[in-house]
Amino acid sequence: MLRKIVLLLPLIVLALCQNLSAAKLPELHTQNGKHALFVDGKPYLILGAQVNNSSNYPAALAKVWPTVEAIHANTLEINIAWEQVEPKEGEFDFSFLDTLLKQARERDVRLILLWFASWKNNAPHYAPSWVKLDDQRFPRVQKQDGTTLNSLSPIHRSTLDADKKAFVALMKHLKKVDKKHTVITVQVQNEVGTYGSARDYSEAAEHLFQAEVPQFLQQKLGLQSGNWKQVFGDDADEFFHAYHIARYCNEIAAAGKEVLPLPMNVNVALRNPFTPGKPGQYSSGGPTDNTIPIWKAAAPSIDMISPDIYFRDYKTVTKILDIYSRPDNPLFVAEIGNAQPFARFFFETLGHQGIGFAPFGMDTTGYTNYPLGAQDYSEQTFAVFGEIYKLMAPWAGVWAKLSFEGETWGVAEPADTSETLEVWNAKNTKRSDAEKKELADKLTQKIDLGLWDAEVTYGRPMFWIDPPKGNNPSSGGALIAKLSENEFLVTALRARVSFSTSSELKEKRYMIERVEEGHFNAKGEWVFERVWNGDQTDWGLNFDNQHHLLKIRMATY
Ligand code: DGJ
Repeated sequence: MLRKIVLLLPLIVLALCQNLSAAKLPELHTQNGKHALFVDGKPYLILGAQVNNSSNYPAALAKVWPTVEAIHANTLEINIAWEQVEPKEGEFDFSFLDTLLKQARERDVRLILLWFASWKNNAPHYAPSWVKLDDQRFPRVQKQDGTTLNSLSPIHRSTLDADKKAFVALMKHLKKVDKKHTVITVQVQNEVGTYGSARDYSEAAEHLFQAEVPQFLQQKLGLQSGNWKQVFGDDADEFFHAYHIARYCNEIAAAGKEVLPLPMNVNVALRNPFTPGKPGQYSSGGPTDNTIPIWKAAAPSIDMISPDIYFRDYKTVTKILDIYSRPDNPLFVAEIGNAQPFARFFFETLGHQGIGFAPFGMDTTGYTNYPLGAQDYSEQTFAVFGEIYKLMAPWAGVWAKLSFEGETWGVAEPADTSETLEVWNAKNTKRSDAEKKELADKLTQKIDLGLWDAEVTYGRPMFWIDPPKGNNPSSGGALIAKLSENEFLVTALRARVSFSTSSELKEKRYMIERVEEGHFNAKGEWVFERVWNGDQTDWGLNFDNQHHLLKIRMATY
């Protein structure tokens, strides 16, 4: 018997190790200002998809999974509504979550749960009736003129306690039924904030507003003491509201984490960073670009503030990515429109060290949020995301590790074009030389890789140096990861990537020493397929719609 056990020991240890690593809690790691979401103990890239708002019932799931599968997503973002788990106060029903977990596991898809509760885009629509119909116990925001908005006030303990109780019950259930950690992150609320008023102006709120700004907040932000108006001046109303919503979310997240310490995020109804308007015209009190410091100070249990991107133009999208990728904030694009122009921003998100990306409305339940997103929910519409996820899926973990530990870059085609080919071609033939140059400059992105520079251009013939004219519609993008000073991993769609010496090596003659095309196997090992040379390298590395993953070695001689 003993001999048998000794012989079997390596197998037993292996099984135990596998079991242990499979049960590792998902965690966010930060080092040198970079972030990674660890799942099963390894960096994980969220190739996400979010369902439509009312797909959170077993009956709808059959119209969810086919899209998830078709686009090669590895993670589904799906809401769990307070109204569905606690329809009667104190009586909980987690049967949807149980069904969801089972079906997700069968498909090897991870989940991000979205806790739709006190706030769903400003309103308590997803709170149970016993909450949303009881204005006395769960007061709403009062405007300056005394009228009431359909947005819960964050200052009332009764509301917070009720929401927190339900959330803790959810996390307790999750802890019991999700030992494998199919759920990798939980979003607390959805697009918190209030439209129509900067804050709650009720008597109770007024009382708090006249009081001193909490000391810890003053200290964390390095501010003088005083009441809200004295400390924050014109921003006082909005910052007061942001502080109270942040504290509310923080308390809920902290209580949930005490049960099961999963990463937790909030998502943002963004304001336009260039033309923001007034608080209340956008969702006041949410973690918009101007209130991030308040949120970071007031809500340490919220690990990520995640933008919901529905701006379509390159300039605004890249500005948003700049704002939300910070040493203290892992960039996770929790929502982005599901129409064609948005897909290429995946590359730019990864270029901002993003840990994940998720187009919204990715199911066939029969709804489209056009003009925010796509006009239809056809396979063809969703395929623009599938194309990119399919390119990334086999080596998503490799990328996440490189992004976390090393240096990576990603860019999307910068010109915003979506014209018919006829219009596009006509414009191109009619352009003056100066206009052509201007367009070519715009379509040329220079990347400093250290000893080497890369140039990414869009819409040129593969063979020859004709200037870039762009793709129509704009859809290109490129990713580069440094493997060593002279070695890089490169992939792209509808783009040319060219390497040259940086100023440091300027005097030297240089060449591409070797370009290998290959792929990563399931163990994350590089598998060689062929060498690119001749035409395939003479005019830069040209990528069309096909998927190519290249390892390039540069050299001087
Ligand atoms: C952003 C919200 O977070 C989503 O739940 C959804 O309502 C979209 N807006 C619009 O479709």
